[in-house]
Amino acid sequence: MLDSTSFAILPSNVKKQETFPHKLGAVKEVALRDQMLVGRTEKGHFACYFIDEETIRIMIDPAKEVTLTPSIAAEGDRLAACDEFTQNNTQAILTKGETTVVLTKDTGVFTVFKKEQERFATCGFGYNRANKHQLQIVSRAETAILGLGEKTGFLNKAGSIISMWNTDVYSPHNKDTVELYQSIPFFIADDPQAGKYGVFYDNSFRTEFDYQSYQDRYTIMAEGGAVNLYVFLGDSLKEIVAGYTRLTGKTPLPPKWSLGYHQSRYSYTSEQEVERIAKTFKEKGIPLDCIFMDIHYMDDFRVFTFNPDTFAGGPALVKALKEQNIDVVPIVDPGVKKDVDYSVYQEGIKNRYFCEKLEGDVYYGEVWPGESAFPDFFQPEVQNWWGDLHQFYTDLGIRGIWNDMNEPSVFNESKTMDLDVVHRQPGRQITHKEGHNLYGLYMSKATFEGLKRLNENERPFSLTRAGYAGVQRYSAVWTGDNRSHWEHMEMSLPMIMNLGLSGVAFTGADVGGFSSECSKEMLIRWTQVGAFLPYFRNHCVQDSIYQEPWAFGAEAEAITKKFIELRYQFLPYLYTLFAEAAETGLPVVRPLYMEYEEERHFLNVSDQFMLGSSVMVAPILRPGQKERLVYLPKGEWYHFTTKERFVGTGEAIIVKAELDDMPIFVKAGTILPLGTKVMNSKEAQKLCLEVYLGTDDKTCGKVYLDDGHSYDYQKGASLTVQFEAIQQGTQLNVHSSAQGDKNWLPDIAEIHAYGAKIDEIIRMGD
Ligand code: GLC
Repeated sequence: MLDSTSFAILPSNVKKQETFPHKLGAVKEVALRDQMLVGRTEKGHFACYFIDEETIRIMIDPAKEVTLTPSIAAEGDRLAACDEFTQNNTQAILTKGETTVVLTKDTGVFTVFKKEQERFATCGFGYNRANKHQLQIVSRAETAILGLGEKTGFLNKAGSIISMWNTDVYSPHNKDTVELYQSIPFFIADDPQAGKYGVFYDNSFRTEFDYQSYQDRYTIMAEGGAVNLYVFLGDSLKEIVAGYTRLTGKTPLPPKWSLGYHQSRYSYTSEQEVERIAKTFKEKGIPLDCIFMDIHYMDDFRVFTFNPDTFAGGPALVKALKEQNIDVVPIVDPGVKKDVDYSVYQEGIKNRYFCEKLEGDVYYGEVWPGESAFPDFFQPEVQNWWGDLHQFYTDLGIRGIWNDMNEPSVFNESKTMDLDVVHRQPGRQITHKEGHNLYGLYMSKATFEGLKRLNENERPFSLTRAGYAGVQRYSAVWTGDNRSHWEHMEMSLPMIMNLGLSGVAFTGADVGGFSSECSKEMLIRWTQVGAFLPYFRNHCVQDSIYQEPWAFGAEAEAITKKFIELRYQFLPYLYTLFAEAAETGLPVVRPLYMEYEEERHFLNVSDQFMLGSSVMVAPILRPGQKERLVYLPKGEWYHFTTKERFVGTGEAIIVKAELDDMPIFVKAGTILPLGTKVMNSKEAQKLCLEVYLGTDDKTCGKVYLDDGHSYDYQKGASLTVQFEAIQQGTQLNVHSSAQGDKNWLPDIAEIHAYGAKIDEIIRMGD
């Protein structure tokens, strides 16, 4: 409490700078062992190897020989043979292709060269008696920093100090909120002279990245463990993200229904209310794919139960909604109520499935159900047990689960478990200091794999609040308890873009804002932007004003409906981007800079984004605004609403947008695969091709199709159609060539062309 008054800045409250007096010392021994550079210094140990020519792993352990076993995040870690190892009195050199790693013997510094140009270099390492260490890395004042997962502030993190400790933050998120729900210790350093590289600091203890205190370097501090660093040397952001997701995994192709519009509230408090919400969507003709059940559906917040008073007919409701093509996603938190008569608690106790203190007592903490125990998801048996418990839901036809409070959040001073709680991994026990940031990731894994086992041949949808690097393999991520603040709508954009650069393609923020009160204009503007972000859910807190599309009268209803419909219109394009993300690891929503790296000033564009490579969105983010500055990258663009053609110079222009419009631009030369009107993603949708003619002959596009929910696509039941439009006078020939299972050949309902006077459109090919 006192912290929120000026007491916090009492003269004696000056933060002491942490020091790292113990150094590694000079290299004493180095050799090539099993294709790896290994050795020791006066006080520590190190190892280094290639994963491929562009990816290098470096480990330094001041306490013991380095541990080579990769973490759960680095599933793609495979040692690759080097081409050469040499050493002399001053250096040890490891080479693969055009990449060279040099270890300088008297300093223990690692330098990485690509094509003989220095790309990455450490410049110091120290540790202290508290088991903390600090690694220093060379940089320049102009080096931009991108990534770092779910962080507040603008896109470029240069000049900030950012730390990683999964934290449930209900108070308003702002620039100084350096720890949120996710910890993804991966960033891209972009130096205008030396080039770019990515760093994944795979250490799950609390870490701190300081890009502020020095001009010539930045530092990475970890509160335990060893340096476990992966360096990615791609030449572009896309290559670096591709490298990072080869290591930590890609966002799998989600079921199509998870890309539709989702409606939620903490909470719809009875089955009648859920029913009424679904009915209202239907009556008003607003598309809907999913309704959420927040904690009130449970019996006194016991997970895997229904409230016998307010949700006695829950199972029948889920089935009935399913028949109307509406999925229901229930919340499942990790806290299991301490209740001797509750079977989940009994099983957990009987089998020692809950987290325990080092001395062997079960750890209890307070969350929604009161005193609760927490599954130790680090044990494979616990993952299986927890996953299988979801049969309670899957038997009803449920295909998606929402994991919350899994930082884990506990209602106490530290906001989480005691640090002397232990987690048991096969052959290894770690304390919560090391396990904390991994807890949400392991829970997501248990949930995703459980759903996959139980719903045969059905792609699961899991949504998580907490996670660590690699979380994209299991779950979509929403950015937690934002507020109905215009600033939060704006901040969600760089947050989502940096999550995308950190491998997590499937992300979104609560549309309308979670806490505080939404307004008519805010709901309109937020629905507009939400419709173009990867995950699209409207959600808000108890006691706040309702914010369903109809909550603010007829005008707001009409406009939000229009944009929800637009989401469904864009679904074929969006789904194609997700299919690409599953292959390449590249994000669906990207900073402009990722597509136009030659425009360095785009590093500061945090309030516009690219949806794939062809669509650029510039939302209205302030009340009363009917126009805004839009940076238009070089080349030609079409305004999506007016179809007016613009010539981009890389500089900003002013674009108007009345309340019922949002600036969206389509790159000239694009064939946009849009879809016909549907009420949800399960209805058959025909294609409407929009041909935005380019200046040269090339106008093309593509669409990916499959059944939208099963894994049959992995056995070939999918189709990709490439389109190309060639203009001959006033005639337009649209060629298509399909690759894959022809059963999925799309029905093309309409083709429209923009940018020239076209009298006749002729379709050719598949
Ligand atoms: C947390 C979640 C929020 C949810 C609430 C109740 O605050 O972040 O989305 O509605 O818990 O379950």
